[in-house]
Amino acid sequence: MSTAEDQIQVSLQAQCSRTVSGMRPTGPLHIGHYFGALKNFVSMQHDSEAFFFVADWHALTSDYADTSRVGEFVEAMVLDWLSVGLDPESCTIFRQSSVKQHAELHLLLSMITPNSWLERNPTYKEQQQEITTKDLGNYGFLGYPVLMASDILLYRPSWVPVGQDQLPHMELTREIARRFNFLYGETFPEPQARLTPSAKCPGLDGRKMSKSYGNGIYLSDSIEEISPKVRSMFTDPARLRKTDVGNPDVCNLFPYHILLTDEATQSEIREGCTKATLGCVDCKKIFMKGLEDFLAPFQERRAQITQAHIREVLAYGNEKAAKAAEETMQRVRTAMHLA
Ligand code: TRP
Repeated sequence: MSTAEDQIQVSLQAQCSRTVSGMRPTGPLHIGHYFGALKNFVSMQHDSEAFFFVADWHALTSDYADTSRVGEFVEAMVLDWLSVGLDPESCTIFRQSSVKQHAELHLLLSMITPNSWLERNPTYKEQQQEITTKDLGNYGFLGYPVLMASDILLYRPSWVPVGQDQLPHMELTREIARRFNFLYGETFPEPQARLTPSAKCPGLDGRKMSKSYGNGIYLSDSIEEISPKVRSMFTDPARLRKTDVGNPDVCNLFPYHILLTDEATQSEIREGCTKATLGCVDCKKIFMKGLEDFLAPFQERRAQITQAHIREVLAYGNEKAAKAAEETMQRVRTAMHLA
């Protein structure tokens, strides 16, 4: 039974803004993930009550055949998060599959979600067509956005930091929330996506940075691993000799200077490149130095983090998340006469 004081506590918390987001544990995070999402997570943990979780059930919707490494991937992801400065004292870090309320809400929301909403989802249609290496004709994959809606609505957040590609899922989440509120009474506030400013972070070879192309710079890379990668990076393909003028706007390296190099140096680089006074090798040296300085604090932190600590962070976060999730589930069960 909750006391009156508990209830005041709960309603006060519900008023202050909450943030929720998750990532599927599909492999080590690269610097594109940092600039595209994690950087935002780190700043949002300070200005709202933030929940960040490893979406391991979501990873299973497409990678269900071999689940032997899920636990390892979850811990590796938490290590990446802690290394960039997510702080378990400032936000709640947890594992989706450890908070069973996600599954309960998913089941209930699945009752009120029309098939047509899922079948017309552009991400679903696109992936069904494009991914040919796996069979995605499973029920769990179709229901991916319903599980995502549950992940979000369970914490009744104001904000969900996500990439542009997740907007159809956010729209569906709001539609499901509206339908629930219409059927059972006002329960879920409608959450808003908070888009990460688009940061261009191409892979080393100019394609999208992706684990499957082996063209990424990872947050866990050591300096020794990075320098051959930087040396092999593509620059302006038309600039064969240092004496040729280059064009930073078609160069694969220049977008990184925009992210990591101060503005004055960026202008010097642009000028040196377009006037052929700065060669690609020297330009890469500036980048390499910037990258080292950028990654150094992450690497220092990473070296201090033990597996036992990661497990402690998760155990602590799982418990905090479950408490918040259970509060919402009590409202949901009451609203649906299932209490
Ligand atoms: N679908 C998200 C992605 O692929 C991951 C995710 C799952 C998520 N549940 C979420 C993101 C809830 C935000 C909120 O990136």
